[in-house]
This record gives sequence, C-alpha cells and structure tokens, in this order.
Amino acid sequence: MLLGVNIDHIAVLREARKINDPNPLDALGICKLAGADQITIHLREDRRHIHDNDAITIIKHSSLPVNLECSINPEIIDIVCKLKPARATLVPENRNEVTTEGGLDVKGNFEKLQKAIDKLHANEIEVSLFIDPKNEIIELSSQLEVEWIELHTGTFANVYAMLYTNLSQTHHTIKELELSKVELKSKLEKSIKEIESSSKFAKKLNLKIAAGHGLNYQNVILISKIPEIIELNIGQSIIARSVFIGLEKAIVDMKELIKND
Ligand code: PXP
Repeated sequence: MLLGVNIDHIAVLREARKINDPNPLDALGICKLAGADQITIHLREDRRHIHDNDAITIIKHSSLPVNLECSINPEIIDIVCKLKPARATLVPENRNEVTTEGGLDVKGNFEKLQKAIDKLHANEIEVSLFIDPKNEIIELSSQLEVEWIELHTGTFANVYAMLYTNLSQTHHTIKELELSKVELKSKLEKSIKEIESSSKFAKKLNLKIAAGHGLNYQNVILISKIPEIIELNIGQSIIARSVFIGLEKAIVDMKELIKND
C-alpha cells in the first residue's frame, strides 16, 4: 500500500500567523525518510493554505512524486500545467467548505473535465479524479481516460467516528445524530461494501485506485485491507499526531498500519 502524505496542514498552521514558519517545504526530507511514497498538496483557488510559491518549491525540490490536488477551473489548470507535478488530482472546490466535502460531479462537468484532462495529459501529467464510490461515476471516469481515481472515504470515516468515538468528522446532520448503534453499524457496513465493490469495478476498467479523506490511525485498517486500493492519501490525522510525536514517527506508524503482508 502506497502512502501519500498530505502536507497542507503544515501550511494551515503557518497561515494562522501569516508568517513563514512552519514551512511545508521542510517536511519533504522527513516524509521521504519516514517511508512516504508521495507528497500531496492542494493548491486551492482561494490559496488559503498552500500558495503558488509553495507548490513551485515543493515540486522543484521533492524527491518523491508530487500529487497536486486542484479544481477544474481553467486558470488553475493552466498553472498546474506549468508546475508539472507527477499527478494532478481533480477535486470539487467550494469556497465556504472547511475541507473537500464530496466527490466530483463527473456527469455534470463531463466536458469541462475532458478539457482539463486533455491539457494535463498534453503536459505529461497523470490525472486522478476524486470521486464518490459509485459505479456510474467510475464508468464515466473511465470514459475520460484518466489513469487514477481516488475514492472519497469521507462518508465511511464519518460513520466510523460516530459509531466508535461519538464524534463526527464532518458536519453531521441532526438526523445522523439520532441514529442508533445498530443503524450506524449497518451504515458503516454499507459504506465499506460500496468502497469494496466500486474498487473491484474500477480495477476491471484498468483504473488505478487510491482512497482518502478522513482516514486515521483507527479507521484506516478497514480500508487498507481492500486489495484493489493501492494508495491512500492522508493529511489531517498524520499532521495532528506529528504535533505530539513528530512527523517522522507519525508517518512510520501509519505506514506500519497500512502495510499488507
Ligand atoms: N484526498 C483528497 C482528494 C483530499 O482533498 C484530502 C483533503 O485535503 C485528502 C485526501 C486528505 O484528507 P484528510 O486530511 O482528511 O486525511
């Protein structure tokens, strides 16, 4: 299982003071040393954490491949084409969200996605689509001839948190809060089955499968056992743990949990 470490949250901390410390660039060597396989960053339209200069220097200096998450806004796509990361992961973006809240609307944005993907491919950048684990969306993604899909594990992570910690990872609705343990368990099983069956479906279509969002040191075990998923992209939980035990150890611990032997 490959691990992409999302280092945006280092920039989130920096932006809390609007100074230049901590610098996400300084994480590169530690991520490599700890066994990370990829660096993931999100260049948001509002530049709320990663700035253009971060993306430029991280892509220039990283010895690990960089996976740049971005929206399908043509201006952003043009910037990404110039930056030339190894991979671009296209994600939906909404200025009011705290974090990426759902998968791409592939059907509603099919033409726009095609244009963005063509430009990225013309610049030798491989493309991943961040999507909900649904077969019809995977089928459309395959028609767009992307190399990767990244399955959104947010629903799974949210139900897991409500069931086992009584804490929701995202903003739960009152309706969800009223669910009993039995109902939450069946919701959790359903969300895992959805991820499993859509991974199988995607593999048949020759897509490479990543997963991410809301994965942590508890829930990751269930996702890492799905054989078709070959990469996990994890940010919040690794950076949160690194505050207490250091980034290197936080990555080593996660790698240990997700290795499939
Ligand atoms: N994958 C994608 C496409 C994301 O947008 C994010 C959030 O930035 C992640 C993975 C990582 O999510 P988390 O920070 O919850 O681990």
